[in-house]
Amino acid sequence: FSVSSNFDFAANLFPLSATTGVGYAPIGATASTSPGGGLGGGSLEKHKTLTYLNGLSLIVGLIIGSGIFSSPSQVNVNAGSPGAAIIVWVLAGILAWTGAASYAELGGAIPLNGGPQIYLSKIFGELAGFLFTWVAVLVLKPGSAAIIAIIMGEYLVRAFIGANAETINPWINKSVALVGLFLVTFLNCVSTRLGTRLNDMLMFLKFVALIAVTVIGIVVAATGFSYTGTPNQDWKTHDWFEGTTEDASAWAVALYAGLWAFDGWDNTNYVVGEFRNPSRDLPRVIHTAMPLVIISYLLANIAYFLVLPLKTINSSNTVAVMFGAQVFGPAGSLILALIVSASCFGALNSSTFTSSRLVYVAGKEGYIPALFGRIGTGTESNASLSTMRTRSWFSKKLARLVGDEDTGLFFTPIPALVLNALLTAAYVLVGEFGTLLTFYGVAGYTFYFFTVLGLIVLRVKEPTLERPYRTWITTPIIFCCVSLFLLSRAVFAQPAQTLTVVAFVVAGVPVYFWRIQGRDQVVKRETQGSSSGQHARPWWKFWKRRAR
Ligand code: ARG
Repeated sequence: FSVSSNFDFAANLFPLSATTGVGYAPIGATASTSPGGGLGGGSLEKHKTLTYLNGLSLIVGLIIGSGIFSSPSQVNVNAGSPGAAIIVWVLAGILAWTGAASYAELGGAIPLNGGPQIYLSKIFGELAGFLFTWVAVLVLKPGSAAIIAIIMGEYLVRAFIGANAETINPWINKSVALVGLFLVTFLNCVSTRLGTRLNDMLMFLKFVALIAVTVIGIVVAATGFSYTGTPNQDWKTHDWFEGTTEDASAWAVALYAGLWAFDGWDNTNYVVGEFRNPSRDLPRVIHTAMPLVIISYLLANIAYFLVLPLKTINSSNTVAVMFGAQVFGPAGSLILALIVSASCFGALNSSTFTSSRLVYVAGKEGYIPALFGRIGTGTESNASLSTMRTRSWFSKKLARLVGDEDTGLFFTPIPALVLNALLTAAYVLVGEFGTLLTFYGVAGYTFYFFTVLGLIVLRVKEPTLERPYRTWITTPIIFCCVSLFLLSRAVFAQPAQTLTVVAFVVAGVPVYFWRIQGRDQVVKRETQGSSSGQHARPWWKFWKRRAR
């Protein structure tokens, strides 16, 4: 992959920007060709900071969030038996892996920030990319972040107030969730590296936790130890497949619960443009992350079965905490509650990072006000220069410490981060957990389906496009078939929810035409002259008149 192929690609995808030389090409693509920057001025993609390890911790950090510590009961109850539950975990993991491998091919061929937003535009036309952005920015991203934040709050409160957390006022949980959300948003505003380093650390914590759970499970099974004195015998006496369900839709529900725990596999694609070596590292990241996560989930589930009676697993949505209590008593449940909340905190951090890039690209493309496509606190073009010169001794030191001496602190898409945090906070406050989850499932899988279908279409439409990584063609086909099965089940089981999703997507169509029209006018203005005045004032001095 060379820079020039990136440029050609941009010219094909956005002929508008190629002819006018202004603005709306994907970030990084026309930055150097547009006079005065236009709307596509200084870009994050010029500062490629992400390494293989950062990518790995980003995706692992997002995938291992709450699910493995709390959704086993849903998988178990619906699958009917521990053996079947393990099969469901394997299937969910493989499905996620096929999806991620397909996305890796797309990310390699189109190495730009924004993920599906860019792929869908390229393959099915800009309306498709816009509709994805519309749903993802307004609902999918903040909605899923809100779910993670709420679970984080619940576990943290549980850790400190005790096991009878059901009686706790939900507003306490929500306040803790908001504090966590604003904290990660602030960190991500200060520095990209600060956020990615936090991720790296939390990834190790998660693996250590899952390995510890596995080892403890094996030791407990071998020695028959239990804090309460009554060792769990279920795994010896029960047939692991007794009670397996024969109902296809129960399998689908179980699969869906497992998929939530694996969700987030698409997220490295949002930040491909910030990888130092995307075509090499993206597939590597995905093919390390997915098997690691699948294996650690399987081991953790087996450990749960070894330590806890089936009844306890099936009736609890805090399996990990129960596990801690069974082995170490109250101290154990405290430690595991803390670990789960730290894990969710990490997932929230990764999710904030990737979502802000999606919002940022949407701002660049003119889908949402251009404000959200800005970087830093100053005017975009001089952000990187001014920051280092004008900051205090302390912030220079800090910048050096986190490795941001080239850009200075606050070289991040701050308006995008703020928008994302506000939307997430709104869902934390008013969102209802179950509704959020179903909406997320239906809308999320609709777009996963179309994006992976797009891979197949792109192979037919542009067979010669340079693809540094090619997945087997069976991979996207398997993914499309299974996600279609899941979606069809949702249509029949929850017609009202499905209709809401469809209505929401359709509502995006008029918005698209409105935004595109506005955007074209801006482009016309820009081409007629003073494009350099665009960023003459810092974005937060909104009360000042724009220099013309
Ligand atoms: N897999 C994560 C968990 O177990 C959820 C990921 C949510 N998805 C997202 N794109 N934020 O909690």
